Amino acid sequence: MALYSEKVMDHFTNPRNVGVIEDADGVGEVGNAKCGDIMKIYLKISDDIITDVKFETFGCGSAIASSSMATEMIKGKALSEALQLSNKAVAEALDGLPAHKMHCSVLAEEAIKAAVKDYYDKNGIEYDKCQFADCSGCAHCHEE
Ligand code: FES
Repeated sequence: MALYSEKVMDHFTNPRNVGVIEDADGVGEVGNAKCGDIMKIYLKISDDIITDVKFETFGCGSAIASSSMATEMIKGKALSEALQLSNKAVAEALDGLPAHKMHCSVLAEEAIKAAVKDYYDKNGIEYDKCQFADCSGCAHCHEE
């Protein structure tokens, strides 16, 4: 079997939703300290629905394919749905990623969450901190 699925190759060579939204309602930027890759997600939000999404990814092919697929998966969706998107679901939608490349899909999940959080913060919207990575580790979300 080839290392990368056709879908990964497709989204890598022809990524969807690349770019910047100048007047974005939420922006999320995350990086992976180990590989140095950076991903930035821009969201346009209206009535809790993601009406537009763009990304910039300075990273490996798997990170680019993951951002492309993840943006396709959240476009037109409610914020609550976007927050449910897991890196596993992104990797599955790409017909899989090699095990040592799974962390690349994590960037996509984290960048989307960071962008939604940015929107909540900017608009003073209350939210459950446990949904986000910077939750400081309350017992609630860290119990197995
Ligand atoms: Fe860094 Fe893929 S190697 S995100």
